[in-house]
Amino acid sequence: MSSDLPEYPFAQPTALEPPPEWAELRDRCPVAAVRLASGDQALLLTRYEDVRQVLSDPRFTRQLHADGAARVTANESGGVFGSEQPDVSPTGAAHQRWRRLVGRYFTAKRMNAMQPRIAATAERLLDDMIAGGAPADLIQGFAFPLPVWVICELLGVPDDDRGRFSYWSDTMLSLSRYKQDEIDASQLEFGEYLWALIESKRVEPGDDLISELLAEELSPLELIGTAQGLLIAGHETTANMIGKMTAMLLADRSRWEQLLGERALVRTAVEEVLRFDANPGFGMPRYLSAEIEVGGTTLPAGTTVVNSMAAANRDEAAFGEAGEMDLRRTPNPHLAFGAGPHSCIGQALARTELQTALTVLLDRLPGLHLAVPASELPVRHGLLIGGIEQVMVRW
Ligand code: HEM
Repeated sequence: MSSDLPEYPFAQPTALEPPPEWAELRDRCPVAAVRLASGDQALLLTRYEDVRQVLSDPRFTRQLHADGAARVTANESGGVFGSEQPDVSPTGAAHQRWRRLVGRYFTAKRMNAMQPRIAATAERLLDDMIAGGAPADLIQGFAFPLPVWVICELLGVPDDDRGRFSYWSDTMLSLSRYKQDEIDASQLEFGEYLWALIESKRVEPGDDLISELLAEELSPLELIGTAQGLLIAGHETTANMIGKMTAMLLADRSRWEQLLGERALVRTAVEEVLRFDANPGFGMPRYLSAEIEVGGTTLPAGTTVVNSMAAANRDEAAFGEAGEMDLRRTPNPHLAFGAGPHSCIGQALARTELQTALTVLLDRLPGLHLAVPASELPVRHGLLIGGIEQVMVRW
């Protein structure tokens, strides 16, 4: 193995600017050998068509523990990608069954019905943030608490238990901030709590995902895996995206003003921030269990491919003026939610949350602006899911 390979992920110039390597590789080397933090080698894809092709291929999964698969991080056990997929159904027919049952719940109709409660929670969080006075950290006060509350709503967790639920999510996601015994104790408690919650829904079903899946005869273990999987896949991703969305729109305040003047743009603006995200984290790894031809190059079976959806989302071959943010862009077939059989099952919910968060911010804080220059926003390091550590704002 050669040691002079570029190290991946690439460093970003600032939290909102993409690494220059994305454009270089798309142009000159769309299938690029890179070295991961673990020291293992992988192939990086940066072109839109190539990324879409590999993600859409049902033969390839995130089975990163297959023999010979590259390890993403040195300490793989803490990696989100090892655990993001609910344990219930890693591959094949079991995954299809799980996805069919869980997917039924995430309808646009149901998401619309949740919207007023999401808006009310967003309002309440902003009340608290405003009461604390400016400047305030939008991540701490707004972006992180909102999605965990939404997942509680989805699972039918009673209001009084939601504070504990946030703590469990925090220990699962921010492994470096807690001691191992705290993490172990928290995971045990969380498992026990979910078990009891499931039993209570069996006795008294509600209008929630757990009650619905119980009726579909998912076992308690499958249900616990599903609840944990949804929390892991749906909390930090959405929280980070709310922070990045706000930062992107405030970094050039004419974008914020455009939205204040034309609220109908909120929907397309959310799609455009998802496309334009320069700080998406690692990308989606796939283990090639069979040979495949990508963009004229044959990739051998046994290779680990890293799909950079964010680099693909800035491919001029797919998006006109890809380097510009256009809040009206339509169509916008970005890959921020992946593609194919593992694409984000929660995307209708994520869209509802992002659109609602943005609308409430525009309504309540029209004078919102960054309290620090955009170039100084601190990138969250050491995460497979990208984000900004702190978004200090005034209003
Ligand atoms: C802005 C927010 C979000 C982003 C950017 C995002 C992104 C993604 C991506 C890229 C994947 C594909 C993974 C792959 O191909 O290997 C995915 C899968 C998934 N997402 Fe999301 N997601 C978000 C929010 C959510 C929410 C709110 C939920 C649910 C509460 C959720 C649940 C899931 C699940 C369960 C999967 C696995 C699906 C499968 O393997 O079939 N996500 N997400």
